[in-house]
Amino acid sequence: MNIAAVLSTKGGPGKTTVTASLGAFCADSGLRTLLIDLDNQPSLSSFYALAHEAPGGVFELIAHNETRYEQILSQTCIPNLSLIHSNDPFNQLGTLLLHAADGRLRLKNLMPAFAADFDLVLIDTQGARSILLEMALLSADMAISPITPDMLTAREFHRGMLQLYRDLQPLAALGARTPPLNVVINKLDATRDARLIHQSLAETFADHPQARMRHTTLPAAVSFRRAATEGIPAHRLEYRVPSNRQAPTAFKVIKALCLELFPEWRVKFEALTEEQLSLRHPASIRPSTMEGASK
Ligand SMILES: Nc1ncnc2c1ncn2[C@@H]1O[C@H](COP(=O)(O)OP(=O)(O)OP(=O)(O)O)[C@@H](O)[C@H]1O
Ligand SMILES: [Mg+2]
Repeated sequence: MNIAAVLSTKGGPGKTTVTASLGAFCADSGLRTLLIDLDNQPSLSSFYALAHEAPGGVFELIAHNETRYEQILSQTCIPNLSLIHSNDPFNQLGTLLLHAADGRLRLKNLMPAFAADFDLVLIDTQGARSILLEMALLSADMAISPITPDMLTAREFHRGMLQLYRDLQPLAALGARTPPLNVVINKLDATRDARLIHQSLAETFADHPQARMRHTTLPAAVSFRRAATEGIPAHRLEYRVPSNRQAPTAFKVIKALCLELFPEWRVKFEALTEEQLSLRHPASIRPSTMEGASK
């Protein structure tokens, strides 16, 4: 089982969008995928409709060490995509974890309970430094950080991440190591030169011991917004390119990102094609546009 925490120390770069998009693509590729919504503003929990809603969620998981599936595991309407929903609106978990001896290590210690039934766990987090974010990072095999393409944000992000990684260093002695960090540019608009932005951001991260800029960039595209509004994965909404557009489809970029982040499942990802989707979900095909681009 591979565990990926999606995080950033700032709000709004697209953590929930990336988590929901990767999760649905992996599930459609046949991977048994579990989403955990650790953000107390439960955007991921309501991204896709549920086929079954469990009585409990992350509160029971973290506060009571509850791992019985019938208590905490909801099923989304997407086959292979399960969810542990957010149900801690008053952020009681933060206070509880600060006072627990195993606070930052609790999720890491709970994850083996899911190992037999899931291939991939994706954890969405809140966009601010908190004990929950630290706990998510320490439970993960890899971190994924979406970042918007401007240098000021990048420098701030770099400082925040360096500090976060530095602060957690002492826990390595307890067996909790910070995982490699995959930085992904999100919301790249049509007015920016992807190559130049990518290059300068890569230089910003060159001195970070664990960070790696990923080659795949996600465009600012209407399909990602529509995915949230309609509760349909972006790759199902948009997999055919309108003839007057050059930007890649949501399907292409999410597939490329999955291939880059999880190369061990290359065969499964390669097997999911546009043709298959058109047979499986004919109703969801609608051409979309890149934001800032002419239609
Ligand atoms: N690639 C994209 N193209 C267009 N819109 C996007 C893209 N990625 C995210 N968005 C939009 O940006 C907004 C913020 O995205 P999202 O909620 O995923 O960010 P977040 O990092 O989870 O925020 P928070 O820190 O508040 O949890 C949403 O309206 C979302 O639809
Ligand atoms: Mg979010």
